[in-house]
Amino acid sequence: MKKFEGKVLVVGASGRTGLWVIRRLQHYGIETRAFARKADKLAEFRNIEVSLGRIQNASALRSAVSGCQAVICTIGANSLFGESSPVQVDGDGIIRLVDIARENDVKKFILVSSIAVTKPFHPLNLFGGVLSQKLRSENHLRSIYGKDGFTYTVIRPGGLKDGEPFKHQLQTGKGDMISGVIDRADVAELAVLSLWIKRVENETFEVIRTEPAEQKSLELYLEKI
Ligand SMILES: NC(=O)c1ccc[n+]([C@@H]2O[C@H](COP(=O)([O-])OP(=O)(O)OC[C@H]3O[C@@H](n4cnc5c(N)ncnc54)[C@H](OP(=O)(O)O)[C@@H]3O)[C@@H](O)[C@H]2O)c1
Repeated sequence: MKKFEGKVLVVGASGRTGLWVIRRLQHYGIETRAFARKADKLAEFRNIEVSLGRIQNASALRSAVSGCQAVICTIGANSLFGESSPVQVDGDGIIRLVDIARENDVKKFILVSSIAVTKPFHPLNLFGGVLSQKLRSENHLRSIYGKDGFTYTVIRPGGLKDGEPFKHQLQTGKGDMISGVIDRADVAELAVLSLWIKRVENETFEVIRTEPAEQKSLELYLEKI
């Protein structure tokens, strides 16, 4: 039996974590729709739907979420100004997506955010207030999901690396107390597992990697949150 029934929309699908999310969804045989500005970076995938648009475009978001049972959002700013800035992407953009997902009856919302979002003086916040914008959209998600059969999970990873999945032990935490790094591939696996692991429904947690060690599964880390 499939671990998750229904279609999952990946937002930020052309990004480095987003691509890993699609790979892991395909591994589990889960129906996938990718939301991206351009299709070129998605060329490696067969059997996925692609929905093109920008996070600023509400009607593109409405078509993208239509018929999906869950959203995994890995979108993130990659420029200080304009349509890829922290305020437009990590703040207003994710808030728009959360509202549209909720209005269109998407039951589950999994958000990849960041460690240190509760620390306004952290050096990462010098990049256009990105941490404060992420905290703003996290708070919005928590305020409208987490009730009436709508659930959220907020994953706050440490600094992102580009290694293979399942190569490190992980450490999780709550209350924004830990710091470190983690591979995007492991973050993607945790986001996908969060579709069906009940323990992380309506939870916000941080995660970093620790010792190198082959992992058979990352499920236990989520069961222990
Ligand atoms: N870098 C770190 O060390 C770090 C640490 C903790 C958390 N994070 C967060 O983790 C998440 C994943 O990071 P990542 O490094 O894997 O991301 P990434 O590779 O930079 O990908 C960002 C994605 O956002 C998309 N995007 C940006 N502006 C958009 C817009 N206006 N409309 C639609 N899509 C837009 C990009 O699309 P295009 O491909 O079209 O540009 C891309 O798909 C992000 O939220 C990031 O902030 C990062």
